[in-house]
Amino acid sequence: RRTFRWIWRLTYLSVLGTLGYTAYVIYDDRNPGEQFIPDPSKKTLVILGTGWGSVALLKNLDTENYNVVVVSPRNYFLFTPLLPSCTTGLIEHRSIMEPVRSILRHKKGAANYYEAEATSVDTDRKVITVVDNSDIKGATSTTEIPYDMLVVGVGAENATFGIPGVREHSCFLKEIGDAQRIRKKIMDCVETAALRGQSEEEMSRLMHMVVVGGGPTGVEFAGELQDFFEEDIKKLVPGISPRFKVTLIEALPNVLPSFSKQLIDYTENTLREEKIDIMTKTMVKKVTDDTVEAEISKPDGTKERVVIPYGLLVWATGNAVRPIVKDMMARIPAQKDSRRGLAVNEYLVVQGARDVWAIGDCAVAGYAPTAQVASQEGSFLARLFNNMAKTESLEGRIHDLSSKMNLKAGNSADEAHQIELLEKQLRRVKDVKPFRYSHQGSLAYIGSEKAVADVSWWNGNLATGGSMTYLFWRSAYLSMCFSTRNRVLVILDWLKSKAFGRDISRE
Ligand code: FAD
Ligand code: NAI
Repeated sequence: RRTFRWIWRLTYLSVLGTLGYTAYVIYDDRNPGEQFIPDPSKKTLVILGTGWGSVALLKNLDTENYNVVVVSPRNYFLFTPLLPSCTTGLIEHRSIMEPVRSILRHKKGAANYYEAEATSVDTDRKVITVVDNSDIKGATSTTEIPYDMLVVGVGAENATFGIPGVREHSCFLKEIGDAQRIRKKIMDCVETAALRGQSEEEMSRLMHMVVVGGGPTGVEFAGELQDFFEEDIKKLVPGISPRFKVTLIEALPNVLPSFSKQLIDYTENTLREEKIDIMTKTMVKKVTDDTVEAEISKPDGTKERVVIPYGLLVWATGNAVRPIVKDMMARIPAQKDSRRGLAVNEYLVVQGARDVWAIGDCAVAGYAPTAQVASQEGSFLARLFNNMAKTESLEGRIHDLSSKMNLKAGNSADEAHQIELLEKQLRRVKDVKPFRYSHQGSLAYIGSEKAVADVSWWNGNLATGGSMTYLFWRSAYLSMCFSTRNRVLVILDWLKSKAFGRDISRE
């Protein structure tokens, strides 16, 4: 009984502690302290983008050392790993968005934010041109912003490989607007299929959901969609349920090519158990408003052309270079051989450009285009820039002390010792090691409350899949959410969907 009483007391105290801490974080979040305006003579650091790379940089940067200017057409950070859950309403989209203004307001030194798209960078004049693409237009919609230091973190756009019809007829899954479009279209297909007098053939087409690309985005979306159907649509619209089908099309011999063989097999078996149709070695060649035309490579080496009718088509075939990055690659001679983004050196400096760095999906540093890489690169640049500012301040102090000593007749031992200490500190600060990516592992949700994980474990690798991995997946992503607010909203969304089901009303 005594042990039980102790366990009870400890549980009580830890719940109380957690609630107290959450209340403190919420209060702190709502009441940020005074911000100081950085000295205008300091260097202007312009950061393009508000994605994983740029926000990690902002989070770790001592903004009081620079005049920081952030430019992005998106005035929020998006937690992409939970984006597939927004397509079915499991998570509401605002739960995974964090306004950039709120991020900046919590920095010690004030920073400027402009909601605009950078269209070109003149690395000789050190200015960027930005355009306000929002619906509301002011007297000025194009302007130039000068910089002393520039960080390009604009991410990537969707790859279509020039396949006809993709841009016009399919939905992508990269931004909040894409997830909203998909959520609306799923219900549109369901309601249209359920309309009285609909032909059998048309019902089957409308209920056929096709996903192109068997990378993590395609697999996670297919899993979420099948869950949506099993847990909600089937119960609420039973009439059309026998026709609901998800097909995942992949050009390579298997899905999730970046995961280990064991997890690829586990994923494919789980997806088949969930009744998701997997078509591998199938390359989509053309898309129309209601069909996908694909070429299947057969085991005997021959090819077969198939036409697949669809109601919803989601295109998830990876990344392509954004126009602004293409423009920079064309202007900087040292970038002429780059194809997939801005080539950077081991300090993430854009090769061939002065005072320009690139991070995340738009940079080619030899790593995969993932949030993990982008965020580590952003944190690295913050350390580098903090050190550069410290170096400048230490050099200034050494210079001042040395001048003072030169003016005096006799040097004091104290001042000489002070210089020695400062020089030691300066050597330490200047010694910044090049960027090295530390891979923490890969995680992917595969539907029916199962996930796969390839994680670093001691000195080796641990490949695991199933329901326990799903709990790990949930807790890992919950802990990685940007803010306490995001974390609380995501938990509430999960609970709400579990208790009441997903909201299937079409906005
Ligand atoms: P982004 O996060 O894409 O941000 C780019 C920013 O630049 C945006 O704010 C954009 O508005 C802005 N921008 C664009 N053009 C301009 C311009 N011209 N001027 C100024 N600003 C501009 N990775 C993982 O590691 N784990 C995961 O679980 C995972 N899940 C994912 C799920 C989905 C659905 C998707 C699509 C991706 C996922 N990723 C995941 C990949 C990850 O999201 C990207 O690698 C990551 O977002 C790259 O970060 P970034 O900062 O380079 O670009
Ligand atoms: P991807 O590049 O990983 O996969 C795209 C897939 O589409 C490839 O397997 C390719 O073979 C296939 N494909 C290309 N053209 C095709 C065609 N015409 N027909 C059929 N198949 C075709 O792209 P994805 O999934 O969008 O991911 C982009 C990046 O984001 C990757 O680096 C990925 O690791 C990361 N990401 C990570 C996640 C995670 O860790 N859980 C989740 C989502 C994305």
